[in-house]
Amino acid sequence: MENNCMGACESHEHKSGDLSRKAVLGGLAAILTGIGLTSLGDTAAEAATSYKTSVRATTITVGSAKTVTVAGKSILITRPTSTTYSAFRRVCSHEPVTLNSTLRSGKIFCAEHAQSFDPNTGSPTGRGPARRALTKYTASVKNGYVYISI
Ligand code: FES
Repeated sequence: MENNCMGACESHEHKSGDLSRKAVLGGLAAILTGIGLTSLGDTAAEAATSYKTSVRATTITVGSAKTVTVAGKSILITRPTSTTYSAFRRVCSHEPVTLNSTLRSGKIFCAEHAQSFDPNTGSPTGRGPARRALTKYTASVKNGYVYISI
């Protein structure tokens, strides 16, 4: 039988390597649980808060947008269809540049590098350097007003 201790121990029957790995893994699991790493997803989901904006839903015509500030964030609310409202952080996904407050040819627009974004999904469209979608928030309409969940 081959031994792996290379002469550093007196017995080849021991399992010191296995115990050491178990101890390390057990300690790691305890640390991760202790800092709450196993529940980060639940914590993030519970943290979303719905804010009533001052924007009446009907004041956003189909194919246009309005800008509001919610919880200290500048938000662009779009209305791609008569029944669909979307909300995006008004910061480009390419570089931290403020997006235009109005749509251009029906798209969200970043003038810095002439990048367009889909007003429903926030995904980059056409030419431009952006590869990631904009940060999107949930938008809904209650009692005639647009609500944003952040
Ligand atoms: S900063 Fe917006 S596309 Fe480059």
